[in-house]
Amino acid sequence: MGGTEHRRYRALVQPSFVPNKAQWWIRNWIEQTVHLLIDSFEGDGEAELNVDFCAAIPVLTIAGSFGVPVERALDIRAALAEPDRIIEILRPIVAARRESPQDDLISILVQAETTDEDGSRHRLSDAEIYSFSLLLLAAGSGTTWKQMGITLAALLTRPDAFDAVRADRSLLRLAIEESLRWTPTDPMFSRYVTRDVDFHGVRLPKGSVLHICLGAANRDPARWDRPDEYDIHRTLRPSFAFGGGAHVCLGMHVARAEMRVGISALLDRLPNLRLNPDAEAPRFIGMYERGATALPVRFG
Ligand code: HEM
Repeated sequence: MGGTEHRRYRALVQPSFVPNKAQWWIRNWIEQTVHLLIDSFEGDGEAELNVDFCAAIPVLTIAGSFGVPVERALDIRAALAEPDRIIEILRPIVAARRESPQDDLISILVQAETTDEDGSRHRLSDAEIYSFSLLLLAAGSGTTWKQMGITLAALLTRPDAFDAVRADRSLLRLAIEESLRWTPTDPMFSRYVTRDVDFHGVRLPKGSVLHICLGAANRDPARWDRPDEYDIHRTLRPSFAFGGGAHVCLGMHVARAEMRVGISALLDRLPNLRLNPDAEAPRFIGMYERGATALPVRFG
C-alpha cells in the first residue's frame, strides 16, 4: 500500500502507537505477560529465554490488545501461519466490540472512520479489521522476539555491559538502541523502483527490485566510530533499524516498551542471571530475519 491510501489507513491506528501510548500497552498487556512467563520458569533455576520468553511476549501482547484472553492467545501463537484460524478467534471479538467497545485495539478499529476518495466516510469492515490485525501480528511478532533475543545475547556475552545495565537500569534504553543499530533483526528491505533514477551515480531502471541493506547503513563508519562493536556507552544517534519515511515502523514504541519491560523484569526477578556454561553459546543467524540461535540461561 502506498500514497494516500496508505496514509489514510495508517492514520487510523497511528494514535494507538505513539510514544505517549507506551504506558497503555505496558499497563494493559506487556507487564502482565512478562510476569506470567517468568512465573512459569522462575522456580527451575534455568530456562531457554529465546523461545520461552522473547518469542512469547510480542504475540501475547498483540493478542492481548485484540482482547483475546491469555488462554486463547496461546492458540493465536500456535496458528500464526494460518490466518483463517486467527480470523475465527477474532470474529466473535469484533462482533462483541461493535456492540460494546472496551479499552482495546479492536474497539478502536471498530469505531474508526476512514474517508474515501470521494470524501464519504465509512467504518472499517470486518475484513479490513482482520487484515489490519494480521498485519500487526506479522509485523510485530517475529521482529520484537528476535530483537529482544539479540539484545539479551549481546548483554549476556558481555559481562561489563550486563553488570552496568544491572547496576543502572537507565542504561537499558541505550543497550536496546545499540542492539537495534548493531544487529537489527530486519537488516534488508526491498523496494520497487517506480521510475528511472540516478542514485549517487548508479542508474536504477524503472521496475527493478532494490535490496536495501539497513544493516550496512547502521554500521556506516562515517556515522559511528568502531561501528562493528556493541557499545552501550556510545552517544545515542538515530539508526535505520525501524526504517524511515512514510513506512517507518508503526510499532516501534511498543517494541521498545516490550524489550525494556521484559529485560528489566528478568533482571529484577532472576538473581545472578547468566548464560548456561554447559550449553552452546548463542550465535546470530538469518539474513532477512536475524536472531539468536538460543538463549540458555541459569539463575539463582
Ligand atoms: C524490534 C522490533 C521491530 C523492528 C526491528 C521493526 C522494523 C520495521 C521496519 C524496518 C519497518 C519498515 C519496513 C519498510 O520500510 O518496508 C517496519 C514497518 C512496520 N512495522 Fe515494525 N518492527 C518492529 C516491531 C513492530 C511491532 C511491535 C509492530 C506492531 C505491533 C510493528 C508494526 C509495523 C507495521 C504495521 C509496519 C508497516 C508500516 C507502514 O508501512 O506504514 N513493528 N518495522
